Amino acid sequence: MKKIVIDPITRIEGHLRVEVEIDEDNVVQEAYASGQLFRGIEIILKDRDPRDAGLMAGRICGVCTNSHFRGAVSAVEDAYGLEIPKNAEIIRDLMAMALFIQDHVVHFYHLHLLDFVDVVSALEADIKLTSKEAHKYSKKPFRNSHTHYEEVKTKLQNFVKAGKLGPFSNGYWGHNEYKLTAEQNLLLISHYLEALKFQTNISKAVAIFGGKTPHPQSIVVGGITSVADMLNPGRLNDYIFIIKEAKEFVDRAYLPDMKLLAIAYKDEIKEGQGRANGNFLSVGGYEFEGDQRLFCNGVIYGHNFDEIEEFDETKITEEVDRAWYNEKDEPFYTDLNEDGSLKTKTKTDKYSWIKAPRYDGKTMETGPLARILVSYMKGNELIKSFVDEFLKDTNLELIDLSTTIGRNVARAIETAYICEYIFKLVSRLIQNIKYYDTETWGKYDFEKLPKDTKGGVFLEVPRGVLSHFVNIKNQKIQNYSVIAPTTWNATPKNLDGKRGAYEEALIGIKLADPSRPLEVLKVLHSFDPCLACAVHIIDTKGVDLGRYKIKINCQI
Ligand code: NI
Repeated sequence: MKKIVIDPITRIEGHLRVEVEIDEDNVVQEAYASGQLFRGIEIILKDRDPRDAGLMAGRICGVCTNSHFRGAVSAVEDAYGLEIPKNAEIIRDLMAMALFIQDHVVHFYHLHLLDFVDVVSALEADIKLTSKEAHKYSKKPFRNSHTHYEEVKTKLQNFVKAGKLGPFSNGYWGHNEYKLTAEQNLLLISHYLEALKFQTNISKAVAIFGGKTPHPQSIVVGGITSVADMLNPGRLNDYIFIIKEAKEFVDRAYLPDMKLLAIAYKDEIKEGQGRANGNFLSVGGYEFEGDQRLFCNGVIYGHNFDEIEEFDETKITEEVDRAWYNEKDEPFYTDLNEDGSLKTKTKTDKYSWIKAPRYDGKTMETGPLARILVSYMKGNELIKSFVDEFLKDTNLELIDLSTTIGRNVARAIETAYICEYIFKLVSRLIQNIKYYDTETWGKYDFEKLPKDTKGGVFLEVPRGVLSHFVNIKNQKIQNYSVIAPTTWNATPKNLDGKRGAYEEALIGIKLADPSRPLEVLKVLHSFDPCLACAVHIIDTKGVDLGRYKIKINCQI
């Protein structure tokens, strides 16, 4: 048995280390995913005014800022039993939806695409054939002119001539895991470059109501502060315009690209590559129309799509037996082995800063795939139509989505679905304003709120289920606790020995060349890891971090 260590995994957010054990045929037999940073925001939040929790919790991560900001404010509102005005809820949703679109597009093109696309091969592409190829997946392909592809090719040639590939350096070019033709590679690389412009524009949509992004400023306990933006038709128009542009890209580039990938990698999909254990968790949410929600809540066990349980928050537990915490929940770092590998020899060795959340004792996968599967099976008509059309066009089945490529398909479908839904949200807001409902903040007297209370919230955010819990004593935060989507997916094993989604998805993957483990990166990237959300504080030299005297007590 050989061991391969990848540390850090790049093109993700935060610091993830993965060790895999491969047999003589280079097939992965065991895997260990380790969060290498310690998150201390919960400690910083202690003894603070609960009204400040949002701005501080937003700093948990540089990518998911809006999600934690809203999560913290909503948890405090829940603790105090505060209802927020409809308009405030819609504005928060508009910010969240723009973030979903931004996150998903950036993830696919800038963090994951190079696991499928051989940049160097794109130099060999025939321009006319590239344009023809694009027409196979879209009636109206995005920027499909010969001049455009010539420009992209020249840009790539200039990188190569200069002796460096710029953003494309250090790839495993020429690896036989790359399956696309030169033309397909050029087509996707052209969209990689277009998506760079896309991400700037879509960020503005979050900033219109958030004041800025990352780290928006406008959500406060009781509502939102961006009243002037809401009442200014010009600002609303700007938002709608950006979303319309985004929708063009999603419909004409992102979704078609996913079809291309699903067809090109069909064998791999049918083999179930990157499949985890089939346990999926979605808490649902986002008011749509009347009682309808954008996403349904539900729990699927072992790919049994026909029996979906309702989500029950009391079934969640979080344990630390194999994470670097002691029985008092304090940071407790145990050294690495002498050769620098993780200590995983015995079934009790600790190997990650990420704690081990379980649902009814089981490891869970959360994220767009979980949301799509649960919503599809629970009869969400709009999601169903997107999924059915995709499966028909690519000749795939629902189970095929539970794979590396399938996670990306689910993400693209979700983006297209949100682009449709978002206009309904905007029109609801306009209706309210038209009928003189301009309330954005529910008045309360802080001094009269309960001194001791607790609350929490579950939110679907781009990477999956996010929960924030707060315990308030004498108007100050006594305890704070976060379970981020990556905590679920990247969970270490516990004393139960059960592999989390990252680890399980790697089992059985065959590496063509263990010195260039592209196959491992591909599986992990498909989850869109955000380690910064899961943990904090770096230990670059393997020194003892157990010296921290600060206590984390997340018992609520
Ligand atoms: Ni994050």
